[in-house]
Parts: sequence; C-alpha cells; structure tokens
Amino acid sequence: MAEPIISLLDPEFEDDPVGALARLRGMSPLVRIGFPGGPPVWLITRGEEIKAALNDSRFVADVSKVPGHQGPSIAEEALASLDLPVEMLSYFRSNLQVQDGESHARLRRLAAPAFSGRRIKALRPRIEETSARLVDELAQKGSGDLLRDYSTPLTGAVICELIGIDEADQPQLRKWMDEYASADVDFSTSIRELSDYLKKLIQRRRAEPADDLVSALVQTMDEDGDRLDEAEVISTVAVLVNAGYHSTAHFIPNAVLTLLDNPDQLALLRARPEALPHAVEELMRIATPLPATGPRYATEDFEFAGVSICRGDAVTGSLLSANNDPRLFSEPERCDVERVLKPGEGHLAFGAGPHRCFGASLANLEGEIALNHLMVQRDSLEITVSRSRLKYRELIPGGARMLSACPVRL
Ligand code: HEM
Repeated sequence: MAEPIISLLDPEFEDDPVGALARLRGMSPLVRIGFPGGPPVWLITRGEEIKAALNDSRFVADVSKVPGHQGPSIAEEALASLDLPVEMLSYFRSNLQVQDGESHARLRRLAAPAFSGRRIKALRPRIEETSARLVDELAQKGSGDLLRDYSTPLTGAVICELIGIDEADQPQLRKWMDEYASADVDFSTSIRELSDYLKKLIQRRRAEPADDLVSALVQTMDEDGDRLDEAEVISTVAVLVNAGYHSTAHFIPNAVLTLLDNPDQLALLRARPEALPHAVEELMRIATPLPATGPRYATEDFEFAGVSICRGDAVTGSLLSANNDPRLFSEPERCDVERVLKPGEGHLAFGAGPHRCFGASLANLEGEIALNHLMVQRDSLEITVSRSRLKYRELIPGGARMLSACPVRL
C-alpha cells in the first residue's frame, strides 16, 4: 500500500508543530511529506535515525551524484530559477552545502583555519561592545522591535566583522543579505552585486592581507599545497553569510521568549550568570529557528529504519522533532538550563555528521552575550503584544520559528 502523504502546510504544523511532530514520531521513524508542486520527501522524525541518516554516505546532498539521475543538479536548478549569468554556476557548484564525500571534506578542511576557535574567541569584545550599544539605544528609545533593532543588526555586524567587511560597506552588505533572505523581492540582482563585491574584496586582501576570514581563506594552503580557488572563496564566504546571519538573529528572540516562559530558569541564570554558556545549549534545543536539515538523496535502494528507500528518494531530518524526542531527552517539554547530557547526546539544532553546522561555536557565543545583556543584566524586558500576535514567517514549512517581528519594551 502506498504511504499516505502528509502536508506540512496543514494548520496543525503552524498551530502546534511540536505536538504535530510528536504524532508523526509515534507513527513511524520516517513519514512521507509533500509540498505543493514538488515530489514527496521522507521526513525522518526520530533523533537516533536522523543522526544515522546524516552520517550515512548512501545519502548525499548533491542529487546529481545519484546514479542514473537525469536533469539539472541543485546548483543548476538554483541558477536557472534565478536567471543569473552562467559564470555564477561555479560559485553554486562550490557551495559546501551541496558537496559530498572528499570534495566536501576538502572545502571544510581548507575553510577551517579561517574559522578557528582563536578567530571566534577574538570576536568576543566586538560582539560585547556592539550588543551593549544596541541594548542602550533600544533602552533609550524605550521600545522597539527586538529583531530589527537588536538581533539582526548584531548578527549582521558580527558576520561582517568576521569576514572583514569595511565598516562603511556594512550597511550595503546587510541590505544584500536581507534581500537574499526575503521571499518578497527578486534577489538575483543582490546575489550578483554581492558576488562582484566579494570578488573585489578578495583581490584587495590578496594584495594586502588583513587579520580577517577572507585573507585567511585566500592564504590557507594544506600540506599538499592545495588551496581554495576564487570561486570557492566567494562561495564559502557567501555560504557563511547566508547560513550565519538570519539563523542566529532569529534564535535570540526565540530564546528570550523561552526564558520569559520559564521564570524559574531565568531566575536561576540571574543568580548564576556563569551558567549561561551551558544554558545556551538547552535554549538552542528548545528555541532553534530551523526546523529541518537540507535534503539528502538516496544513492541506492536500501532499507533504512525498517522503511524501504528507493534510489533517488529525498529525505530530510526534522531537527525540531529530534530535539523533542523523549528517546533522546527525558521530559523534553521541560526547559532545564542545567540539563546534563553525556558527550554525543547533545541537541540536534546544528544537525550532525559531516555537514554539522560550521558556525555552531559562533552562534553559541552570540546567543550567550545577547541573553546576558538582554535578560540577565537587566530585568525590564517585556514583550508588548500578546503571544497570539507574534507571527512566524513561513519560509520553511514544518515548524520554522522565524518571527516577523518581536515588539519589546526595555
Ligand atoms: C542559531 C544559529 C544557527 C543554527 C540553528 C544553525 C543550524 C545549522 C544546521 C542545522 C546546519 C546543517 C544543515 C544540514 O545538515 O542540512 C547548519 C550548517 C551550516 N551552518 Fe549553521 N546554524 C546557525 C548558525 C550559524 C553561523 C553563525 C554560521 C557561520 C557564520 C553557520 C554556518 C553554517 C555553515 C557554513 C553550514 C554548512 C555546513 C556544511 O554543509 O558542511 N551557521 N547550520
């Protein structure tokens, strides 16, 4: 009998995504989901199975690696839909999110020194300074939108600082990034302009290196003398910008709401601020804005978690479901900022396996500083509208928690 196809556009996924996913998890580790106009996809609902799939090389991120696959790769499809110059195909092809195996490992290896712990740690004073300034400005105004006035400018400034964007160019860069993330505008122009800008920046840093990520990406060479070519540097910077800016900006208000909903946990953090770095892990589990991994494709027919998967089938892991899976977390509905987990038993908000989030430590650091300034050092932050008026944008179906706005008083 054919599997029933579940629509993630069903109102239950908007009204109560965690409850709806618990129902699916109870049904099966994998369910068939559908989106209008697209082929059905397997949604993996349980935590252990998601980890297994993300570590299984029979699932690949690049559909053109599936034997016998006909038609364009994801990169080519993206390019066709955006009407961009053909030379940009090389940027899309170099995107580490759609690479697999050795070519993916190579990109991560070459990009890693530019994204080292030292570089992230060195950003702390600048993040503290920017966050404190934004909080002061918001407090002086008395009220505003936590996303527009605090978290988006904060994470935008951090990513620009990391990459090495000159201060004067930062507003323009943020405009391109905002357009890219918006469903309402044609973002082909912003992608083209951003790429041209990055190309020139790379040329400048090649001629005159600075202590920033672009310079490090340009200079890094591994033991065999291998290095990133220009398209790979452009692509890697664009991916970092895209993956690192909005996700963290949306996590911050979600975590604020979680703490307001759990006053005992907030009181605990105010009494023991040194517990914040650990608490961010629990808040990330509960309040991550991203509901699911990107798609992976089966390279052969095989049985996975008791379900027959056919070559070419697409699967995606529900990270929201995994983070609420009682098989992984006792009383997952409870926010416990002191939750103790053994190594390897952490949340799945950053995914797992070779594609696990590249910016997890930066996201944690930004979250820690933001929550310290907004919620621990101050006790005046209030949401100024009723919860029912807080609306999530619907860019990613299946429980994406990206608020359109978060009106606050400080
Ligand atoms: C709260 C904030 C964040 C969340 C929830 C998040 C979540 C994720 C997840 C779930 C993945 C894996 C997707 C998959 O397997 O298909 C991922 C990948 C990635 N993330 Fe993050 N992320 C966050 C912040 C950041 C930041 C700050 C950066 C960098 C500045 C970043 C850079 C990346 C990159 C480059 C990848 C692709 C890695 C690869 O394909 O090898 N992320 N992120």
